[in-house]
Amino acid sequence: MSEPNNLPRHVSFIMDGNGRWACKRGLDRIDGHREGAESVRECMKFAVEKGIRYISFFAFSEENWERPAEEVEGLMHLMFQAIKKETPTMLEYGIRFRVIGDMNRLGDSLRKEIDECCKVTDKENCGTDMIIFLSYSGKWDIIQAFNMFMADSFRKGISGNPPVLDAGILSGYLSTSGIPDPDLLIRTSGEQRISNFMLWQTAYTEYYFTETLWPDFRKNDFARALEVYAKRDRRFGKLK
Ligand code: IPE
Ligand code: IPE
Ligand code: MG
Repeated sequence: MSEPNNLPRHVSFIMDGNGRWACKRGLDRIDGHREGAESVRECMKFAVEKGIRYISFFAFSEENWERPAEEVEGLMHLMFQAIKKETPTMLEYGIRFRVIGDMNRLGDSLRKEIDECCKVTDKENCGTDMIIFLSYSGKWDIIQAFNMFMADSFRKGISGNPPVLDAGILSGYLSTSGIPDPDLLIRTSGEQRISNFMLWQTAYTEYYFTETLWPDFRKNDFARALEVYAKRDRRFGKLK
């Protein structure tokens, strides 16, 4: 395999197919999620080794709250355990951990664990930012950004003209503010849709779809996606 030199700055994953992976093996869906956590761990380490600056994972969508309570509880518990277990690895690998989404919907113990991991991994010169999107949706993000903009505008006092939003201002209010837009978005399990992920931020992102189910997606698959990305011609609407 040739070494891709055209490295994306931000790689994002829609981790899909955990349930199908488990089903194929006669296991419970939660077993698929548990194995999927191993894929996260492997991809996280690989990203650091490659020198990828930002890596993000869509772990739980706003819509996923509608799944059966047993699965939701299982996923939240798994998240709690994974953060606790992987904090030392993140410190060892110089990773800064961040979580983006509607934190109000999370339980107290998970929120506390997230805060703790964010606090201990928050260093000035981290090598890689690892971002988990939890209880997140792209529409939620745009709406909360708009509402914060409006609240700030009213706080400043509106005199005459209505407040005017532009792309730069809106980006600054999004929950991803300060994080570059994804260069590469990888979705596993054969589905070819965005499922209400980063709607605004993926305007010029390169998509990579693979049939591989998330629990089977490991560093060789990641390396393959990086190779494909390195050959893409990104024009951003301009002529070269
Ligand atoms: C992805 O796997 C994990 C989450 C969305 C939480 P799924 O649970 O969606 O797995 P499939 O799509 O049913 O196989
Ligand atoms: C997308 O997967 C959300 C996450 C990976 C967290 P889903 O399995 O929820 O998406 P759909 O239902 O196939 O669109
Ligand atoms: Mg799915």
